[in-house]
Amino acid sequence: MINMNVNTTVTTGTLSRHLHGQFAEHLGRCIYEGMWVGTDSPIPNTDGIRNDVLEALRELNIPVLRWPGGCFADEYHWKDGVGKPEERARMVNSHWGGVEENNHFGTHEFLRLCELLDTEPYISGNVGSGTVHEMQQWVEYMTQDGTSPMADWRRQNGRDEPWKLTYFGVGNENWGCGGNMRPEYYADLYRHYATYVRNYGDNQVYKIACGANTDDYKWTEVLMREAGHLMNGLSLHYYTIPSGEFFPVKGPATGFAAEEWFRTLKNTLFMEELIVKHSKIMDKYDPEKKVGMIIDEWGIWTDVEPGTNPGFLFQQNTVRDAVVAGVNLNLFYKYADRIKMANIAQMVNVLQAMVLTEGDRMLLTPTYHVFNMYQVHQDSERLDLQWESPEYVMGAQSIPKISAAASKDAQGQVHITVCNLSHDESESFSCQIEGGSYTATGIVLAGDALDAHNTFEQPERVAPTELSVTLSAEGVLSFELPAASVARITLS
Ligand code: AHR
Repeated sequence: MINMNVNTTVTTGTLSRHLHGQFAEHLGRCIYEGMWVGTDSPIPNTDGIRNDVLEALRELNIPVLRWPGGCFADEYHWKDGVGKPEERARMVNSHWGGVEENNHFGTHEFLRLCELLDTEPYISGNVGSGTVHEMQQWVEYMTQDGTSPMADWRRQNGRDEPWKLTYFGVGNENWGCGGNMRPEYYADLYRHYATYVRNYGDNQVYKIACGANTDDYKWTEVLMREAGHLMNGLSLHYYTIPSGEFFPVKGPATGFAAEEWFRTLKNTLFMEELIVKHSKIMDKYDPEKKVGMIIDEWGIWTDVEPGTNPGFLFQQNTVRDAVVAGVNLNLFYKYADRIKMANIAQMVNVLQAMVLTEGDRMLLTPTYHVFNMYQVHQDSERLDLQWESPEYVMGAQSIPKISAAASKDAQGQVHITVCNLSHDESESFSCQIEGGSYTATGIVLAGDALDAHNTFEQPERVAPTELSVTLSAEGVLSFELPAASVARITLS
């Protein structure tokens, strides 16, 4: 039995909705086929964007969407992706499968997608192979209101009003695919490029510098020291790899043993150490926490599905993915004083996706359901939920069995999200609720196997069901979670 306690009158800061951000790259079937089918497709679409996917994603209230990469961003030349589609330049997507990119989905199409999803755009600019001038002109093209060469060109291309551009990334993974740079060199380039990312009219751009790969603390140190005063956010990328290594194998998305389940969650929890250690360095240079930690790539990365293009990063999504998502989101809430945005990789058909498509069919993944269940935390006030987790033991190793978070929304409803990490043990909870009297309801996401997942034949095998909860007159909330599950309890 786990004892928990929460006082619903004591709040400890806002959980930014941007912690629920998404990422969509020109990679595999994420953009093309997954979202963009073109205006003359037989698949029902709005301005070329498929309606089934749009409708599913709208439900999630996605606050911010990062595009066009990823590694693709540092070889993307935005001018190739505007103007008449049939006249757009083509290129080879050398990072992702060497396939042809016809640039039919470009700036206008992406910003239309953002409008349709009612989400804020986060655009990653090209530092690795682009020029300062090109980056400056892209921001001018999107946001300049009055007459200017780029604003006039935008109008010729069919868009009169400027768009609102909130977030702009100055390069991506410039320590790797974005140029193999040293932090000192990139810090100087950041200072240079970011100078020309201008605020036109009343558009204010939040500038995000490329941050560290996993535990490269030196990168954070150098960036904060040399350029911290010129940035609004600094990114961090960390993926959960089941095996712990990218090579030779990451581990399969389905058909794994209990040991691999455990190892995956242990690797997921490493995120906390990364947040704490990178934050400590950021605190040294920015004690007032003005610079946001932007975890703009996270999620589980497994081997691709057998028989699919290895460059397309298409993987199945199981109840394990659901727990990985739940644990990460609970962690982001815990450190929300520093983490200002997080973007799961990636939204459709790539890595830990929300939805998978096949031709004109689409299914919702277990991860989709977690984002849906957790969206109640968006812009809610964090509550100080207390508990002591028993250990989840596997051989000689152990990790906490429980991950949890709580918040209060603008209507005064309290939401508690809890994950049971154990692959085979259920757990009972008794939570003392102080500060108000409520009625309680719950939902839970669990599977009939550790790798339970949805397929086009069985699209609802993993879906939330009602969780039995009781709340006594003395304010004691009781419930039991099955092994390997994610739950949400609401107090109204
Ligand atoms: O999300 C897939 C890739 O992972 C991105 O393109 C890159 O930034 C990271 O290495």
